Amino acid sequence: MKLPALQSVTVEILVDNFFDVFEPSRPGIVERAAPGQLKQPLLAAHGLAFFITLQRDGQSSRILLDAANSPLPLFNNLQALEHRVDDIDAVVLSHGHPDHYGGLVAFLGQRTSGLPVYAHKESSLPKLLITPRGRLGPWTLPRQDLINAGALLHENIGPEMILGQALLTGTVEPSTPYETPLPGPKRIVAGQEEHDHFLDEQALVMNVEGRGLVIVGGCSHPGIVNMVKYSQKITGVKQVAAIIGGFHLTAGGDDLIKQTIAGLKEIAPELIIAGHCTGFRALTKLAAAFPDNFMVSCVGTKVYIMGG
Ligand SMILES: [Fe+2]
Ligand SMILES: [Fe+2]
Repeated sequence: MKLPALQSVTVEILVDNFFDVFEPSRPGIVERAAPGQLKQPLLAAHGLAFFITLQRDGQSSRILLDAANSPLPLFNNLQALEHRVDDIDAVVLSHGHPDHYGGLVAFLGQRTSGLPVYAHKESSLPKLLITPRGRLGPWTLPRQDLINAGALLHENIGPEMILGQALLTGTVEPSTPYETPLPGPKRIVAGQEEHDHFLDEQALVMNVEGRGLVIVGGCSHPGIVNMVKYSQKITGVKQVAAIIGGFHLTAGGDDLIKQTIAGLKEIAPELIIAGHCTGFRALTKLAAAFPDNFMVSCVGTKVYIMGG
């Protein structure tokens, strides 16, 4: 599927698990928010939301990728970073976990007009987690509430273009032997609980002129290397400018972390920004493995991928 070459992509981290005032900026590439310069404090939360701006032929489009775990951090941080809910042209959901859609009904309710919302057809199946702290869930994406609140719902299975400029991968085709499903996540299909292979998880992929792919994921449950390799396959673009999102790695153990790092080294992206569900242990190993091109995802961070 041919992706148009964009002049630039800016990914602003609206909601994520982290804020660390000592994480450095890289002028013109990664700019961190300075709390003293904001009109109100940012909130970190166990959830994810990205405000993505795409530039093509001098025109801007804006995509909200995921909508945090609840309205509280989403609205607080939109205000702190001086965005309005009506600034968004489309919403994309990475997968059907509630820490990614929890603020969406309220977000749509604040809009003055309806909004295209893209989600995988299977993201509205009930999901649950078996954890050391017990069973969590089930949760179900409130599909009808979203429609009632103004969502113009597009449900895909395979690759889908967003606003004619970005590509949503659809179900990720696995290709690595080490990124196998973890035992905890489950989903309910026709009343039966089954293992969740995250057929509903997808990455948002953009192509920046002269720089290559920008791949933004939610939890990357199918495996971040699988997601990147599949993005390369369906776009035909090998060069990777940036990989951004939660990598869900610590829960998979040290072998998975090690093999994922080796897989990322082979891909050789210019920049890796991980946060959310990656886990502290995996973040420290990524930081050690990629001293020059890994950075932690913090709320208020802006990542600029400029064409050239
Ligand atoms: Fe998830
Ligand atoms: Fe998540």
